[in-house]
Amino acid sequence: MRDLHFSYPDGHSALHGVSFKLCDGDKVALVGPNGAGKSTLMLHLNGILEGKGEIELSGLRLTRDNLPVIRSMVGLVFQNPDDQLFSPTVFEDVAFGPLHMGLPEAEVRARVDSALEAVRMTSYKDRLSHHLSVGEKKRIAIATVLSMNPSVLILDEPSAGLDPRARRTLINLLRELPITMLVSTHDMRLVQELFPRTIVMDDGNIVADGLTMEILENEELLTAHGLEKP
Ligand SMILES: Nc1ncnc2c1ncn2[C@@H]1O[C@H](COP(=O)(O)OP(=O)(O)OP(=O)(O)O)[C@@H](O)[C@H]1O
Ligand SMILES: [Mg+2]
Repeated sequence: MRDLHFSYPDGHSALHGVSFKLCDGDKVALVGPNGAGKSTLMLHLNGILEGKGEIELSGLRLTRDNLPVIRSMVGLVFQNPDDQLFSPTVFEDVAFGPLHMGLPEAEVRARVDSALEAVRMTSYKDRLSHHLSVGEKKRIAIATVLSMNPSVLILDEPSAGLDPRARRTLINLLRELPITMLVSTHDMRLVQELFPRTIVMDDGNIVADGLTMEILENEELLTAHGLEKP
């Protein structure tokens, strides 16, 4: 991402020239106070929002023309799972992406099974998505993206609302997934445990980008941006 600026339609300016680079296989945490612009930034990475600046993925410039290709590479899990789940049943929600990619039925079923297994929600296949609890919805939302086998995973506060066991399952899953990921979170223990690199945002800017170990030792930086050492 190069020098991205974005204002919402009501005129609120949410990103003021954001630049960063992820390398293949990087696992990066995105932290910062409420309203820093984390979700806004993430919504640009598969073209849901369109600001001024440049975004390139695997050498491919993000433009309207190549959105379908970009969206098959970038799996984005929204902060609010209600924005992600729109089918009657869990099965249909998790199958939606692979079906849309035109995969054969047997492959779709296999993808759904392994995505639900990854979030330990196999027994929920026939449940109604909109009747699930918040944490259950969050886990299914993650499965809807895993079923597409993305090469980049963008997760907006994936551990919010999860119980300790589900949070642990998520941590293990993210640790094992050998793909590039950018994960926004307020869970500083998760940051410390899982992400070698951290990007700190505040007020629409990146204010730090470096080794998590060093950022967590920088008390001045943490205090200035409303963060706490775990
Ligand atoms: N649809 C919108 N219209 C106008 N302003 C918006 C809209 N969505 C977000 N904003 C504003 O943009 C700024 C960045 O919001 P964003 O949701 O990206 O923050 P965030 O870092 O994800 O915060 P949180 O930690 O609470 O999730 C905030 O000031 C917010 O009020
Ligand atoms: Mg957010």
